[in-house]
Amino acid sequence: MSAPACETPRIVFYRVSVEFDTAHGPLRVVEDVSFSVRDREFVAIIGPSGCGKTTMMNIVAGFVQPTGGSVTLDGRPVGGPGPERGVIFQEYGVFPWLTVEQNIAFGLNLAANRLPAAEKAQIVQRYMGLMGLGDFAKAYPKHLSGGMRQRLAIARAYAVKPQFLLMDEPFGALDAQTRSNMQDLLLEVLAAEGKTVMLITHSVEEAIYLSSKIIVVTARPSRIREVIDVPFAYPRDEGLHERAEFGELRSHIRDLVMKEYAAQQRQTARNLE
Ligand SMILES: Nc1ncnc2c1ncn2[C@@H]1O[C@H](COP(=O)(O)OP(=O)(O)OP(=O)(O)O)[C@@H](O)[C@H]1O
Ligand SMILES: [Mg+2]
Repeated sequence: MSAPACETPRIVFYRVSVEFDTAHGPLRVVEDVSFSVRDREFVAIIGPSGCGKTTMMNIVAGFVQPTGGSVTLDGRPVGGPGPERGVIFQEYGVFPWLTVEQNIAFGLNLAANRLPAAEKAQIVQRYMGLMGLGDFAKAYPKHLSGGMRQRLAIARAYAVKPQFLLMDEPFGALDAQTRSNMQDLLLEVLAAEGKTVMLITHSVEEAIYLSSKIIVVTARPSRIREVIDVPFAYPRDEGLHERAEFGELRSHIRDLVMKEYAAQQRQTARNLE
């Protein structure tokens, strides 16, 4: 992310609402959400569990249609999924019937990314190595640990060099040290390839360390609670965690998120009455 972000909005949410039909009646999950993500911007979304974050990402990925409002990608309404969007799902999203190397090569084999075989093999090799999966090329996901499966999902998304990265808790199942390594690797990939990113995370520290803008959303239905510009330039390094401004921002965002969890608990208690 060395190049400065330009002003062109690439992802635009305009007054977006989502309502699901459930066995208990309509469930409003997203309400009147508007925001935009500029070229090469890194936006993190943070909010209580079950509030509607994955639903929002699924709209951008092309898997869910909004019930109200619109989501556009480079000025066009999102139709279905597309190869320019690399998605890392909350629950791994690797293909169990493919080996590690076949999973990483999957996107490279799609027509839209046609590459010479030698180049494909080189990319697969590179990401297997970066993710520490080099010794498991022929292994199937069921023989990997949870953290390894998640690293595989990350490798598969990075391998195709998508313009957009949509990441839903990509580092959630990783131990603290691997998580920190993966965060730094992501920053390196972004510095080299300049992507536009949406990240969903429950970690306030991760959101601050990685992103340029943080959107805090409310308890369900998701509305925008606060949009925070992260005041730190790229490239970033571990030392950032020790800065006083980092601590202040962390307290502020934690406070906001805690209030939303409290609101969610009150809501649940009312529903039980
Ligand atoms: N296809 C669907 N049909 C009905 N309800 C759904 C559907 N998808 C999601 N929901 C409901 O919408 C709400 C929001 O779900 P979503 O997955 O967006 O939450 P989230 O913010 O990502 O939560 P978490 O942080 O736990 O991952 C939940 O109550 C969920 O049960
Ligand atoms: Mg989710």
